[in-house]
Amino acid sequence: MPYEEDFAPDADGLREALRMLIEVRSEAGSPHINPALPLDVPQQWPAVGLGGMVALEHLKGPALEQVSRLDHPGFFAHMDPPTPWMTWAAAMWAAAMNQNLLHPDAAPGARQLEPLVVGWLAPAFGMRGGHLLPGSTLANLTALWAARDLTGARRVVCSVAAHLSIAKAARVLGLELVEVPVDDHQRLREDLLPDDVSDAVVVLTAGTVATGAVDPLSAARGAAWRHVDAAWAGPLRLSSHARLLDGIDTADSVAVSAHKWLYQPKDSALVLFREPQAAQEVLSFGGSYLAAPNVGLLGSSGDRALPLGRHAAGLGPAGPGRPDRRGHGSGRAAGRLGQRRAGAGAVAAPGDRGRDLAAPPRTGRGSARSNARRLGQHRHPQRRDMVSVRRSQPARPARARRPRRPQRADQQLIRGLADNRRPVSVIRPILAGWADWPRERRPTVSR
Ligand SMILES: Cc1ncc(COP(=O)(O)O)c(C=O)c1O
Repeated sequence: MPYEEDFAPDADGLREALRMLIEVRSEAGSPHINPALPLDVPQQWPAVGLGGMVALEHLKGPALEQVSRLDHPGFFAHMDPPTPWMTWAAAMWAAAMNQNLLHPDAAPGARQLEPLVVGWLAPAFGMRGGHLLPGSTLANLTALWAARDLTGARRVVCSVAAHLSIAKAARVLGLELVEVPVDDHQRLREDLLPDDVSDAVVVLTAGTVATGAVDPLSAARGAAWRHVDAAWAGPLRLSSHARLLDGIDTADSVAVSAHKWLYQPKDSALVLFREPQAAQEVLSFGGSYLAAPNVGLLGSSGDRALPLGRHAAGLGPAGPGRPDRRGHGSGRAAGRLGQRRAGAGAVAAPGDRGRDLAAPPRTGRGSARSNARRLGQHRHPQRRDMVSVRRSQPARPARARRPRRPQRADQQLIRGLADNRRPVSVIRPILAGWADWPRERRPTVSR
Protein backbone atom coordinates (compact mmCIF):
# COMPACT_ATOMS: atom_id res chain seq x y z
CA MET A 1 0.00 0.00 0.00
CA PRO A 2 1.44 3.38 -0.91
CA TYR A 3 2.35 5.43 2.15
CA GLU A 4 -0.06 8.25 1.31
CA GLU A 5 -3.06 5.92 1.50
CA ASP A 6 -2.54 5.51 5.22
CA PHE A 7 -3.48 9.16 5.66
CA ALA A 8 -6.57 9.29 3.49
CA PRO A 9 -9.69 8.35 5.48
CA ASP A 10 -10.71 4.86 4.43
CA ALA A 11 -14.28 4.18 5.45
CA ASP A 12 -14.01 0.49 4.52
CA GLY A 13 -10.87 0.08 6.61
CA LEU A 14 -12.48 1.80 9.58
CA ARG A 15 -15.63 -0.29 9.19
CA GLU A 16 -13.53 -3.46 9.13
CA ALA A 17 -11.62 -2.40 12.25
CA LEU A 18 -14.93 -1.65 13.95
CA ARG A 19 -16.39 -4.97 12.83
CA MET A 20 -13.47 -6.85 14.40
CA LEU A 21 -13.92 -4.93 17.63
CA ILE A 22 -17.68 -5.42 17.85
CA GLU A 23 -17.32 -9.11 17.03
CA VAL A 24 -15.01 -9.62 19.99
CA ARG A 25 -16.98 -7.39 22.36
CA SER A 26 -20.28 -9.04 21.53
CA GLU A 27 -19.04 -12.53 22.38
CA ALA A 28 -20.77 -13.57 25.56
CA GLY A 29 -17.92 -15.75 26.87
CA SER A 30 -16.86 -15.76 30.45
CA PRO A 31 -14.77 -13.16 32.18
CA HIS A 32 -11.26 -14.43 32.05
CA ILE A 33 -7.67 -13.40 32.23
CA ASN A 34 -5.99 -14.94 29.21
CA PRO A 35 -2.55 -16.42 29.57
CA ALA A 36 0.11 -14.62 27.58
CA LEU A 37 0.50 -16.72 24.40
CA PRO A 38 3.08 -16.19 21.68
CA LEU A 39 1.83 -13.40 19.46
CA ASP A 40 0.97 -13.88 15.81
CA VAL A 41 3.06 -10.83 14.98
CA PRO A 42 6.23 -10.90 12.89
CA GLN A 43 9.17 -11.20 15.27
CA GLN A 44 11.37 -9.21 12.91
CA TRP A 45 10.31 -5.86 11.55
CA PRO A 46 9.05 -6.78 8.07
CA ALA A 47 11.55 -5.64 5.44
CA VAL A 48 8.65 -4.68 3.19
CA GLY A 49 5.52 -3.11 4.66
CA LEU A 50 2.60 -5.53 5.04
CA GLY A 51 -0.04 -2.92 4.30
CA GLY A 52 -2.35 -1.34 6.87
CA MET A 53 -5.11 -3.96 7.00
CA VAL A 54 -2.77 -6.95 7.10
CA ALA A 55 -0.78 -5.33 9.89
CA LEU A 56 -4.02 -4.70 11.77
CA GLU A 57 -5.00 -8.37 11.37
CA HIS A 58 -1.71 -9.38 12.99
CA LEU A 59 -2.30 -7.00 15.86
CA LYS A 60 -5.79 -8.33 16.50
CA GLY A 61 -4.31 -10.94 18.86
CA PRO A 62 -2.70 -8.62 21.39
CA ALA A 63 -5.36 -5.91 20.96
CA LEU A 64 -8.62 -7.83 20.90
CA GLU A 65 -8.02 -11.47 21.81
CA GLN A 66 -5.31 -11.75 24.43
CA VAL A 67 -7.15 -9.33 26.63
CA SER A 68 -8.74 -9.29 30.05
CA ARG A 69 -12.47 -8.89 29.55
CA LEU A 70 -12.86 -5.89 31.82
CA ASP A 71 -16.17 -5.20 30.12
CA HIS A 72 -17.73 -8.41 31.44
CA PRO A 73 -20.12 -7.81 34.32
CA GLY A 74 -18.56 -10.73 36.18
CA PHE A 75 -15.03 -9.43 36.02
CA PHE A 76 -13.71 -8.21 39.32
CA ALA A 77 -11.92 -5.40 37.64
CA HIS A 78 -11.02 -3.59 40.84
CA MET A 79 -10.18 -0.19 39.35
CA ASP A 80 -10.07 -0.77 35.62
CA PRO A 81 -13.55 -0.21 34.27
CA PRO A 82 -15.34 -1.02 31.05
CA THR A 83 -15.72 2.05 28.87
CA PRO A 84 -18.94 3.28 27.26
CA TRP A 85 -18.84 2.90 23.49
CA MET A 86 -19.36 6.60 22.99
CA THR A 87 -15.99 7.26 24.61
CA TRP A 88 -14.43 5.07 21.89
CA ALA A 89 -15.99 7.29 19.25
CA ALA A 90 -14.85 10.45 21.04
CA ALA A 91 -11.33 9.02 21.53
CA MET A 92 -11.25 8.15 17.82
CA TRP A 93 -12.15 11.71 16.89
CA ALA A 94 -9.43 12.95 19.23
CA ALA A 95 -6.90 10.56 17.66
CA ALA A 96 -7.91 11.58 14.14
CA MET A 97 -7.65 15.33 14.73
CA ASN A 98 -4.64 14.92 17.07
CA GLN A 99 -4.90 18.37 18.60
CA ASN A 100 -2.08 19.64 20.78
CA LEU A 101 -3.20 21.59 23.81
CA LEU A 102 0.28 22.99 24.27
CA HIS A 103 -0.44 25.73 21.79
CA PRO A 104 -3.67 27.69 21.17
CA ASP A 105 -3.19 27.53 17.40
CA ALA A 106 -2.86 23.73 17.53
CA ALA A 107 -6.05 23.15 19.51
CA PRO A 108 -8.40 26.15 19.40
CA GLY A 109 -11.52 24.21 20.40
CA ALA A 110 -9.91 21.61 22.66
CA ARG A 111 -8.18 24.28 24.73
CA GLN A 112 -11.56 25.80 25.49
CA LEU A 113 -13.27 22.48 26.10
CA GLU A 114 -10.89 21.22 28.78
CA PRO A 115 -11.41 23.99 31.37
CA LEU A 116 -15.14 23.82 30.66
CA VAL A 117 -15.38 20.08 31.38
CA VAL A 118 -13.08 20.34 34.41
CA GLY A 119 -15.30 23.19 35.59
CA TRP A 120 -18.39 20.95 35.42
CA LEU A 121 -16.81 18.33 37.67
CA ALA A 122 -14.66 20.37 40.08
CA PRO A 123 -17.47 21.77 42.31
CA ALA A 124 -18.47 18.26 43.40
CA PHE A 125 -15.10 18.18 45.17
CA GLY A 126 -15.29 21.74 46.50
CA MET A 127 -12.66 22.79 43.94
CA ARG A 128 -12.77 25.59 41.36
CA GLY A 129 -10.64 24.34 38.52
CA GLY A 130 -7.62 22.38 37.41
CA HIS A 131 -6.56 20.39 34.39
CA LEU A 132 -6.45 16.94 32.83
CA LEU A 133 -3.49 14.56 32.92
CA PRO A 134 -2.73 10.97 31.94
CA GLY A 135 -3.16 9.58 35.49
CA SER A 136 -3.34 10.28 39.20
CA THR A 137 0.36 9.53 39.67
CA LEU A 138 0.96 12.73 37.74
CA ALA A 139 -2.04 14.48 39.29
CA ASN A 140 -0.64 13.83 42.79
CA LEU A 141 2.81 15.01 41.72
CA THR A 142 1.35 18.18 40.19
CA ALA A 143 -0.68 18.97 43.31
CA LEU A 144 2.31 18.45 45.61
CA TRP A 145 4.48 20.54 43.32
CA ALA A 146 2.01 23.45 43.56
CA ALA A 147 1.75 22.90 47.32
CA ARG A 148 5.51 23.03 47.82
CA ASP A 149 5.98 26.15 45.73
CA LEU A 150 2.99 28.02 47.16
CA THR A 151 3.60 27.22 50.82
CA GLY A 152 7.29 26.38 51.16
CA ALA A 153 6.34 23.03 52.73
CA ARG A 154 9.26 20.70 53.37
CA ARG A 155 7.50 17.49 54.30
CA VAL A 156 4.79 15.22 52.96
CA VAL A 157 2.73 13.46 55.62
CA CYS A 158 0.49 10.56 54.60
CA SER A 159 -0.62 7.19 55.94
CA VAL A 160 1.38 4.01 55.43
CA ALA A 161 -1.48 2.88 53.17
CA ALA A 162 -1.10 5.83 50.77
CA HIS A 163 -0.44 5.04 47.12
CA LEU A 164 3.18 4.76 46.09
CA SER A 165 2.76 7.82 43.86
CA ILE A 166 2.89 9.96 47.01
CA ALA A 167 6.32 8.61 47.94
CA LYS A 168 7.41 9.12 44.31
CA ALA A 169 6.20 12.73 44.34
CA ALA A 170 8.01 13.42 47.62
CA ARG A 171 11.22 11.98 46.14
CA VAL A 172 10.94 13.97 42.90
CA LEU A 173 10.17 17.19 44.76
CA GLY A 174 12.91 16.72 47.35
CA LEU A 175 10.45 16.59 50.25
CA GLU A 176 10.79 14.44 53.37
CA LEU A 177 8.18 11.67 53.58
CA VAL A 178 6.54 10.99 56.94
CA GLU A 179 4.27 7.95 57.13
CA VAL A 180 1.58 7.73 59.79
CA PRO A 181 0.15 4.39 61.03
CA VAL A 182 -3.39 3.31 60.14
CA ASP A 183 -6.20 1.98 62.32
CA ASP A 184 -7.91 -1.40 62.04
CA HIS A 185 -9.87 -0.08 59.08
CA GLN A 186 -6.71 1.00 57.24
CA ARG A 187 -7.49 4.70 57.77
CA LEU A 188 -4.85 7.22 58.74
CA ARG A 189 -4.62 7.57 62.54
CA GLU A 190 -5.42 11.24 63.04
CA ASP A 191 -4.20 11.02 66.65
CA LEU A 192 -0.74 9.95 65.43
CA LEU A 193 -0.20 12.87 63.04
CA PRO A 194 2.84 14.98 63.94
CA ASP A 195 1.89 17.70 66.46
CA ASP A 196 2.93 20.45 64.08
CA VAL A 197 2.07 20.04 60.41
CA SER A 198 2.37 23.71 59.51
CA ASP A 199 5.44 22.87 57.38
CA ALA A 200 3.81 19.87 55.72
CA VAL A 201 1.60 18.84 52.85
CA VAL A 202 -0.77 16.33 54.41
CA VAL A 203 -2.10 13.79 51.91
CA LEU A 204 -5.35 12.03 52.79
CA THR A 205 -6.55 9.15 50.68
CA ALA A 206 -10.13 8.59 49.55
CA GLY A 207 -10.05 4.92 48.57
CA THR A 208 -6.72 3.32 49.46
CA VAL A 209 -5.40 1.10 46.75
CA ALA A 210 -5.60 -2.24 48.58
CA THR A 211 -8.73 -1.91 50.69
CA GLY A 212 -10.69 1.16 49.60
CA ALA A 213 -10.32 2.81 53.02
CA VAL A 214 -11.21 6.48 53.30
CA ASP A 215 -9.01 8.58 55.60
CA PRO A 216 -10.69 11.18 57.84
CA LEU A 217 -10.82 13.84 55.15
CA SER A 218 -11.21 16.76 57.53
CA ALA A 219 -8.02 15.88 59.44
CA ALA A 220 -4.91 18.06 59.75
CA ARG A 221 -6.57 21.45 59.44
CA GLY A 222 -3.32 23.09 60.56
CA ALA A 223 -1.30 21.74 57.64
CA ALA A 224 0.42 24.06 55.19
CA TRP A 225 -1.57 22.31 52.43
CA ARG A 226 -4.07 19.45 52.43
CA HIS A 227 -4.31 17.21 49.39
CA VAL A 228 -6.82 14.40 48.89
CA ASP A 229 -5.76 11.52 46.69
CA ALA A 230 -9.20 10.49 45.47
CA ALA A 231 -7.83 8.63 42.45
CA TRP A 232 -10.11 5.68 43.01
CA ALA A 233 -13.08 6.69 45.16
CA GLY A 234 -13.39 10.32 44.02
CA PRO A 235 -16.33 9.72 41.66
CA LEU A 236 -18.42 8.63 44.66
CA ARG A 237 -18.91 12.39 45.03
CA LEU A 238 -21.08 12.17 41.91
CA SER A 239 -23.06 9.24 43.24
CA SER A 240 -25.57 8.54 45.95
CA HIS A 241 -22.57 7.78 48.21
CA ALA A 242 -21.22 11.35 48.08
CA ARG A 243 -21.31 11.68 51.87
CA LEU A 244 -18.66 8.99 52.26
CA LEU A 245 -16.19 11.61 51.12
CA ASP A 246 -17.44 14.38 53.41
CA GLY A 247 -14.57 16.74 54.14
CA ILE A 248 -12.99 16.45 50.70
CA ASP A 249 -14.27 19.94 49.96
CA THR A 250 -12.00 21.35 52.69
CA ALA A 251 -8.84 20.28 50.81
CA ASP A 252 -6.55 22.57 48.85
CA SER A 253 -6.22 20.07 46.01
CA VAL A 254 -7.71 16.78 44.86
CA ALA A 255 -6.59 14.10 42.38
CA VAL A 256 -9.17 11.89 40.61
CA SER A 257 -8.49 9.20 38.01
CA ALA A 258 -11.08 9.52 35.25
CA HIS A 259 -9.93 6.16 33.88
CA LYS A 260 -11.15 4.44 37.03
CA TRP A 261 -14.70 5.19 38.16
CA LEU A 262 -15.37 7.86 35.56
CA TYR A 263 -15.23 5.12 32.92
CA GLN A 264 -12.75 6.84 30.64
CA PRO A 265 -10.32 5.14 28.30
CA LYS A 266 -6.77 5.41 29.62
CA ASP A 267 -5.03 7.78 30.13
CA SER A 268 -7.21 10.30 31.92
CA ALA A 269 -7.19 11.99 35.32
CA LEU A 270 -7.95 15.35 36.94
CA VAL A 271 -5.89 17.51 39.24
CA LEU A 272 -8.16 20.00 40.94
CA PHE A 273 -7.40 23.07 43.03
CA ARG A 274 -9.37 25.20 45.44
CA GLU A 275 -7.46 28.24 44.07
CA PRO A 276 -6.64 27.21 40.51
CA GLN A 277 -5.24 30.58 39.49
CA ALA A 278 -2.57 30.59 42.18
CA ALA A 279 -1.68 26.99 41.37
CA GLN A 280 -1.56 27.73 37.67
CA GLU A 281 0.89 30.55 38.26
CA VAL A 282 3.45 28.40 40.05
CA LEU A 283 2.97 25.57 37.57
CA SER A 284 3.43 27.75 34.48
CA PHE A 285 6.38 28.00 32.17
CA GLY A 286 6.80 30.32 29.23
CA GLY A 287 8.77 29.67 26.07
CA SER A 288 9.69 31.99 23.26
CA TYR A 289 7.81 29.77 20.84
CA LEU A 290 4.67 29.57 23.03
CA ALA A 291 1.77 31.94 22.69
CA ALA A 292 0.39 30.90 26.09
CA PRO A 293 2.08 29.57 29.23
CA ASN A 294 2.59 25.83 29.45
CA VAL A 295 0.90 24.76 32.69
CA GLY A 296 1.98 21.69 34.62
CA LEU A 297 4.00 18.60 33.82
CA LEU A 298 2.93 17.84 30.27
CA GLY A 299 4.21 19.38 27.11
CA SER A 300 2.27 18.17 24.10
CA SER A 301 -1.08 17.02 25.37
CA GLY A 302 -4.07 15.48 23.60
CA ASP A 303 -7.80 16.10 23.78
CA ARG A 304 -8.77 14.12 26.90
CA ALA A 305 -11.73 16.42 27.49
CA LEU A 306 -13.50 15.09 24.41
CA PRO A 307 -14.36 11.59 25.71
CA LEU A 308 -14.73 12.85 29.29
CA GLY A 309 -16.93 15.72 28.16
CA ARG A 310 -19.07 13.36 26.09
CA HIS A 311 -19.54 11.14 29.11
CA ALA A 312 -20.29 13.97 31.54
CA ALA A 313 -22.56 15.88 29.16
CA GLY A 314 -24.29 12.74 27.96
CA LEU A 315 -25.26 11.61 31.45
CA GLY A 316 -25.63 14.87 33.36
CA PRO A 317 -24.53 15.47 36.96
CA ALA A 318 -26.27 12.38 38.32
CA GLY A 319 -24.62 10.13 35.78
CA PRO A 320 -20.88 9.99 35.45
CA GLY A 321 -19.92 8.86 38.94
CA ARG A 322 -22.15 5.89 39.29
CA PRO A 323 -19.88 3.10 40.42
CA ASP A 324 -22.93 1.80 42.23
CA ARG A 325 -24.63 1.08 38.94
CA ARG A 326 -21.93 -0.54 36.87
CA GLY A 327 -21.60 -4.21 36.21
CA HIS A 328 -18.02 -4.72 37.24
CA GLY A 329 -16.24 -5.81 40.35
CA SER A 330 -15.49 -2.35 41.65
CA GLY A 331 -19.15 -2.03 42.39
CA ARG A 332 -18.76 -4.54 45.15
CA ALA A 333 -16.03 -2.49 46.75
CA ALA A 334 -18.28 0.54 46.40
CA GLY A 335 -20.92 -1.56 48.07
CA ARG A 336 -18.76 -1.96 51.07
CA LEU A 337 -17.86 1.71 51.05
CA GLY A 338 -21.52 2.45 50.66
CA GLN A 339 -22.71 0.19 53.44
CA ARG A 340 -20.63 1.92 56.07
CA ARG A 341 -20.92 5.56 56.80
CA ALA A 342 -17.75 7.61 56.69
CA GLY A 343 -16.12 7.33 60.07
CA ALA A 344 -17.42 3.83 60.54
CA GLY A 345 -14.77 2.42 58.22
CA ALA A 346 -14.68 1.40 54.63
CA VAL A 347 -13.02 -1.96 54.91
CA ALA A 348 -14.92 -5.17 54.45
CA ALA A 349 -15.11 -7.22 57.57
CA PRO A 350 -13.97 -10.85 57.22
CA GLY A 351 -16.95 -12.90 56.17
CA ASP A 352 -18.93 -9.86 55.07
CA ARG A 353 -20.44 -10.84 51.76
CA GLY A 354 -21.77 -7.41 51.06
CA ARG A 355 -24.19 -6.71 48.26
CA ASP A 356 -23.22 -5.83 44.78
CA LEU A 357 -24.10 -2.19 44.39
CA ALA A 358 -23.22 -2.69 40.77
CA ALA A 359 -26.51 -4.48 40.42
CA PRO A 360 -29.26 -2.32 39.01
CA PRO A 361 -31.84 -1.08 41.49
CA ARG A 362 -34.71 -3.34 42.30
CA THR A 363 -38.03 -2.46 40.85
CA GLY A 364 -41.48 -3.39 42.09
CA ARG A 365 -41.50 -6.35 39.75
CA GLY A 366 -38.22 -8.00 40.58
CA SER A 367 -34.72 -6.74 40.02
CA ALA A 368 -33.59 -5.20 36.77
CA ARG A 369 -31.11 -8.05 36.58
CA SER A 370 -33.82 -10.67 36.66
CA ASN A 371 -35.90 -8.63 34.24
CA ALA A 372 -32.88 -8.49 31.95
CA ARG A 373 -32.47 -12.23 32.24
CA ARG A 374 -36.04 -12.76 31.28
CA LEU A 375 -35.51 -10.58 28.24
CA GLY A 376 -32.24 -12.36 27.50
CA GLN A 377 -30.44 -9.05 27.68
CA HIS A 378 -27.39 -7.70 29.35
CA ARG A 379 -28.00 -7.05 33.03
CA HIS A 380 -28.06 -3.30 32.42
CA PRO A 381 -30.85 -2.94 29.91
CA GLN A 382 -31.43 0.63 31.01
CA ARG A 383 -27.96 1.73 29.94
CA ARG A 384 -27.74 2.64 26.32
CA ASP A 385 -23.97 2.97 26.41
CA MET A 386 -23.51 -0.77 26.81
CA VAL A 387 -23.09 -2.69 23.61
CA SER A 388 -23.43 -6.16 24.96
CA VAL A 389 -27.07 -6.97 24.41
CA ARG A 390 -27.15 -10.72 24.32
CA ARG A 391 -30.48 -11.63 22.84
CA SER A 392 -29.29 -15.04 21.81
CA GLN A 393 -28.71 -16.17 25.37
CA PRO A 394 -31.37 -18.47 26.75
CA ALA A 395 -33.39 -17.23 29.68
CA ARG A 396 -31.95 -18.40 32.95
CA PRO A 397 -33.88 -20.63 35.29
CA ALA A 398 -35.05 -19.22 38.58
CA ARG A 399 -32.40 -18.04 41.02
CA ALA A 400 -29.91 -20.70 42.04
CA ARG A 401 -29.19 -21.22 45.72
CA ARG A 402 -26.16 -19.29 46.84
CA PRO A 403 -23.52 -21.41 48.51
CA ARG A 404 -22.42 -19.92 51.81
CA ARG A 405 -18.69 -20.25 51.29
CA PRO A 406 -16.38 -19.36 48.44
CA GLN A 407 -15.83 -22.45 46.35
CA ARG A 408 -12.56 -24.08 45.44
CA ALA A 409 -11.70 -22.02 42.40
CA ASP A 410 -12.36 -18.91 44.42
CA GLN A 411 -10.11 -20.09 47.21
CA GLN A 412 -7.33 -20.73 44.73
CA LEU A 413 -7.68 -17.21 43.50
CA ILE A 414 -7.72 -15.89 47.03
CA ARG A 415 -4.36 -17.58 47.50
CA GLY A 416 -3.11 -16.09 44.24
CA LEU A 417 -4.17 -12.64 45.27
CA ALA A 418 -2.70 -13.12 48.71
CA ASP A 419 0.61 -13.86 46.99
CA ASN A 420 0.18 -10.49 45.38
CA ARG A 421 -0.19 -9.15 48.91
CA ARG A 422 -3.74 -8.02 48.66
CA PRO A 423 -5.36 -8.43 52.07
CA VAL A 424 -7.42 -11.61 51.99
CA SER A 425 -9.91 -10.18 54.45
CA VAL A 426 -10.98 -7.72 51.81
CA ILE A 427 -10.68 -9.87 48.74
CA ARG A 428 -12.47 -12.86 50.22
CA PRO A 429 -15.90 -11.25 50.57
CA ILE A 430 -15.53 -9.80 47.10
CA LEU A 431 -14.75 -13.20 45.67
CA ALA A 432 -17.48 -14.82 47.66
CA GLY A 433 -19.79 -13.04 45.29
CA TRP A 434 -18.57 -15.34 42.54
CA ALA A 435 -20.65 -18.03 44.04
CA ASP A 436 -23.59 -16.06 42.68
CA TRP A 437 -22.41 -16.77 39.16
CA PRO A 438 -23.27 -19.95 37.31
CA ARG A 439 -20.10 -22.05 37.09
CA GLU A 440 -19.66 -21.59 33.34
CA ARG A 441 -19.73 -17.82 33.67
CA ARG A 442 -17.30 -17.54 36.56
CA PRO A 443 -14.01 -15.79 35.98
CA THR A 444 -11.12 -18.12 35.35
CA VAL A 445 -7.55 -17.17 35.98
CA SER A 446 -4.55 -18.55 34.16
CA ARG A 447 -1.22 -17.86 35.76
C1 LIG B 1 -5.20 5.79 45.68
C2 LIG B 1 -4.47 5.86 44.38
N1 LIG B 1 -3.71 6.93 44.12
C3 LIG B 1 -3.03 7.06 42.96
C4 LIG B 1 -3.09 6.07 42.00
C5 LIG B 1 -2.32 6.24 40.74
O1 LIG B 1 -3.21 6.50 39.72
P1 LIG B 1 -2.84 6.24 38.17
O2 LIG B 1 -2.75 4.77 38.03
O3 LIG B 1 -4.00 6.87 37.47
O4 LIG B 1 -1.54 6.93 37.90
C6 LIG B 1 -3.87 4.93 42.21
C7 LIG B 1 -3.94 3.87 41.23
O5 LIG B 1 -4.31 2.78 41.47
C8 LIG B 1 -4.57 4.83 43.44
O6 LIG B 1 -5.34 3.78 43.70
